[in-house]
Amino acid sequence: MSNHLGNQPREQWASRLGFILAAMGSAVGLGNIWRFSYVTGENGGAAFLIIYFLCILFIGLPIMMAEFTIGRRAQSDVVGSFQTLAPKRPWFIGGFIGVASAFIILSFYGVIAGWTLYYFINYLTGTLWSAPPEGYETYFENFITHSTHPILWQFIFMALTIGVVLIGVKNGIEKTNKLLMPILAILLLVLASYSLTLGGAREGLAFLFSPDWSAFREPEVYLAGLGQAFFSLSLGMGALITYGSYLSKEEKLPGAAYSIASLDTLFAVVAGIMIFPAVFAFGIEPGYGAGLAFVTLPDIFDSIAYGGIVGLAFFFLLAAAGLSSAVSLLEVAVAYFIRKFDWTRKFTAIVIGFIIFLLGIPSSLGLGIWSHITIFDSNILDSMDFLASNIFLPLGGLIIATFVGWGWNKSEAMKESDFGDTFIGHVWIFILRFIAPILIVLVFLSAIGLFN
Ligand code: TRP
Repeated sequence: MSNHLGNQPREQWASRLGFILAAMGSAVGLGNIWRFSYVTGENGGAAFLIIYFLCILFIGLPIMMAEFTIGRRAQSDVVGSFQTLAPKRPWFIGGFIGVASAFIILSFYGVIAGWTLYYFINYLTGTLWSAPPEGYETYFENFITHSTHPILWQFIFMALTIGVVLIGVKNGIEKTNKLLMPILAILLLVLASYSLTLGGAREGLAFLFSPDWSAFREPEVYLAGLGQAFFSLSLGMGALITYGSYLSKEEKLPGAAYSIASLDTLFAVVAGIMIFPAVFAFGIEPGYGAGLAFVTLPDIFDSIAYGGIVGLAFFFLLAAAGLSSAVSLLEVAVAYFIRKFDWTRKFTAIVIGFIIFLLGIPSSLGLGIWSHITIFDSNILDSMDFLASNIFLPLGGLIIATFVGWGWNKSEAMKESDFGDTFIGHVWIFILRFIAPILIVLVFLSAIGLFN
């Protein structure tokens, strides 16, 4: 039994289910379909998948518990939470890394989500019901390299995100996706089963599940697996600290964390089973890059009778899943600025959301007229993604893990996590103290060679 805290909580989730749904909505998004498929494709498939699973289990899940525990105990945003729990100590720097990550991730996330809106509209109008004369791949490339069109869709998506965030936690965030996520899950399952009937099924499954052992010698596969685990679970930048802060004591954290992590991973695996058989069936290169899902999916829909309707439903649900994730990203920054400057939620959401929209424009242009600007051989969008997902998020996670493991009183941390003084509670602390930090540092050290 844990006691209520003395301080009156601020806004709160309206129901126990509300928190779980919102956290699931944050986790399940473009990361599970767009990012998972292209990163898996670029990193050789099964070996990457194994590393990704291990990162979820030994790093992601314990850090998710750490974020929930910090947030619910401190009842504040990501910076304020560290300041409340460890006044006058430098842990709050982790909070600033989190706010910075929110800006960077949402800036390019809005671009990709804009693509899904564009595809949704083009299925609505019927344009994509059959292959355009130039083919789906060229169609996609023409769109993303265009100077203004993708930015327009990015703008529309960001406006929707701002709209949800300014309505506020209870009314906006909590209600999105209550219905849509289960429908997306069912549609993914149906499409994955369909993909298994395609000619590329054997090859696709082998790619996903039968590892090429030599890939384990590549340091970038570890870094990619770590980054994908953080990105997909929405970890390392305090999104789940912020959501945990709207939580009361009634919710039991470990159960919530297990279900969120397993559901999120399941979405990714099912998406993989949907995409990779089709990749091989339609002769697409698995390492195609960030557009992999966008060039593969239309081929799947094209091969189904009335597949245009399926495509329409799919891109609608994907955009909705992206929206509930984007909301959690914006909320991290908005919660911080509301407290810091005492601005209204409405003003903060609009100003911060608009700044993030502007920040995302170079990522979009970097695929077209600014494609000559590269950082370590990558375009602007990929570089932003790499910086935030593979460096800032694991770094934030490292700070969160060491804070709960070392910077906080052990018995208090165990009590506040709802683990209590149990064996699993001790295992959790042990992982946060040693296993997770050491693994993250090792992956970083091995990756340093990548820049030489
Ligand atoms: N997890 C989301 C996805 O898979 C993206 C996301 C939302 C995120 N909030 C986050 C990623 C916080 C990192 C941190 O699409």
